[in-house]
Amino acid sequence: MLVLGLESSCDDCSAAVVRETGKGPELLAMTRRSQDDLHGPYGGVVPELAAREHLLQLRGVIAGALAQAGVPLEGLDRIAVTQGPGLVGSLLATFSASKAMAWRQGIPWVGVHHLLGHLNAARFSAPDLPFPALALLVSGGHTHLYLAPDWTRLELLQKTRDDAAGEAFDKTARMLGLGYPGGPVVDACARKAARAGAPFTPPRFRDGLASWSFSGLKTAVKLRIQAEPGLQSAGPEDPRVQALCRSLQETVATWLLKPVPAFRDATGARSLVVSGGVACNSELRAQAQAMAVRLGLALAIPAPKFCTDNGAMIAAAGAVLEPARDPWSRNADPNLPLAFDQR
Ligand code: KG4
Ligand code: ZN
Repeated sequence: MLVLGLESSCDDCSAAVVRETGKGPELLAMTRRSQDDLHGPYGGVVPELAAREHLLQLRGVIAGALAQAGVPLEGLDRIAVTQGPGLVGSLLATFSASKAMAWRQGIPWVGVHHLLGHLNAARFSAPDLPFPALALLVSGGHTHLYLAPDWTRLELLQKTRDDAAGEAFDKTARMLGLGYPGGPVVDACARKAARAGAPFTPPRFRDGLASWSFSGLKTAVKLRIQAEPGLQSAGPEDPRVQALCRSLQETVATWLLKPVPAFRDATGARSLVVSGGVACNSELRAQAQAMAVRLGLALAIPAPKFCTDNGAMIAAAGAVLEPARDPWSRNADPNLPLAFDQR
């Protein structure tokens, strides 16, 4: 089965052609246009600009993926697209195009929840992952730990109360004038550090609920920058900036993985998936690897190109989900719940 996957929920416009073999998905081609240069000056994504840019990029992105795969439109068996959650204007770009293409070709259409896409990114490297799996999905918009009974379902275990972990990276980079998006630059700076700075203190929750919080971490970083004369404009080669970046990512990685052992015991999970843009982080990947060995969990962390938003993960999810019976009545939903009526 040949599946075209389309993703434009935020600021990346991506299309991929994936062959589903029964043994797992195989990527034939993927195109992606980033809008980093467009949003960089604002230090974050501007929704209206993102939506307009997607409309301009869409044709080239889809045509490019089909051409690279050597698959004509007529050769597709299925089209999958992100239905939500995300920025509504951004979502609508590929969503509308996908329905028009499926209608024109008379082929099945699948609306995919963005987070099921991030889970299914792991199928490219670990198609035989043992379930149930713990799925740590971490990006600029999400920080969630789920129990996945299989590739098509996610049950929430824990999430952030406020900011997503990716925001701590993006805001830190912004405060230090390192550029946007922040994750890759903070990671690069941290890897140059001879040693980490002082660790950050984890927040304590009076209500005892299992959750994370990253907004306080942002403030702690800000106070540390303000306390150090010249740090704000010191740049990526300054050892103090590098030490701060290393403390930040060691802290974030440790906090993110902390609940995993208890939830492994409570759920009997046999594997751990770490996905989403923040799963590109070198420290998080290393700590997850060490934890999986310690707990005897099978580990699946997608290659970085499958961790950040991409069409391949949507195609991989679209291949294992049931197509919608009535695609034409569907609409993109910026707050799409996980339990939406797929069929
Ligand atoms: O999944 P994604 O591409 O888009 C969303 O759904 O949000 O994730 C983007 C986020 C950004 O916050 C970016 O800074 C972060 O992933 N990111 C990283 C790294 N690469 C990307 N965070 C930490 N370390 C990285 N190497
Ligand atoms: Zn994402």
